Amino acid sequence: MNDVCNDEAEAGTPPRDGRDQYAVSAEFYDILQAERDRDRVHRLYSADVRTARAGVLDIGAGTGTVTAMSLVESGAAVHAVEPTRAMRTALMTRLADMPADLRMRVTVHARALHDSGLRAVADVAICHNVIGCLQPTRRRTLWPAVAKALLPGGVLVLQLPPASLPTTAVSTDLPIVRVGEHEYGGRMVTSADGERIRAHFDYWVRGRAGRLRERAETFWMWPLSRAELVEEMSEHGFAALPDRGDDVTLAARHPGLLDG
Ligand SMILES: C[S@@+](CC[C@H](N)C(=O)[O-])C[C@H]1O[C@@H](n2cnc3c(N)ncnc32)[C@H](O)[C@@H]1O
Repeated sequence: MNDVCNDEAEAGTPPRDGRDQYAVSAEFYDILQAERDRDRVHRLYSADVRTARAGVLDIGAGTGTVTAMSLVESGAAVHAVEPTRAMRTALMTRLADMPADLRMRVTVHARALHDSGLRAVADVAICHNVIGCLQPTRRRTLWPAVAKALLPGGVLVLQLPPASLPTTAVSTDLPIVRVGEHEYGGRMVTSADGERIRAHFDYWVRGRAGRLRERAETFWMWPLSRAELVEEMSEHGFAALPDRGDDVTLAARHPGLLDG
């Protein structure tokens, strides 16, 4: 479930079939991956958020892994932007478990970034596991919204989307996690579907007598090479910063908007 998302959530509007997006995956998201994600986002972004003086913006906060790390690692205000109810519910539960002095510094915005009205609130923005999930026209609406939300000279650090379509279907088992008498697990299958990547998740809960429940959800991703991404972002004023020594992230600075 990591590295994919459901683009219909992006608009922050009710999904076409009336079902809350991530309604299936939100139940399994943290139990199957929070531990690994916690280490990963710390490794990838903690040095960045420590440089923040005015604020950290977590774009597509999901269940709050980056938000929580930012609150701990930085003394700045944190803005967590999460339009989807199911993911935001888990985010609020995570925040409710945090000490009040940390919680005082975080504001949750229940909209897509371009609908949030956020302006000049952060000098560091993190966008983890989101860009690849945005349909291209929606992705292009994100850049001006990030530029507005950043202070002049602010830096956006993002997780790169997949660079290309998979050539064959790839099946990955999610970790099996024990909760009391039950085990939770699942499988992700990614495959090319036209210009998109289809990521299908099957989740299960197992008891002593066998499977108790099975749920499934499908997500979509749009591949984009690093060079194409840098080019697209430069059209919106972002200048890529030097390589960060990993294959996963890209950082870019925005000089600030002329209209302030
Ligand atoms: C795959 S989830 C990743 C969540 C979290 N960053 C993580 O890595 O666990 C992508 C999230 O981005 C959110 N999202 C999608 N489009 C967005 C937008 N335009 N502005 C803010 N959030 C958005 C979705 O609602 C979803 O929770």
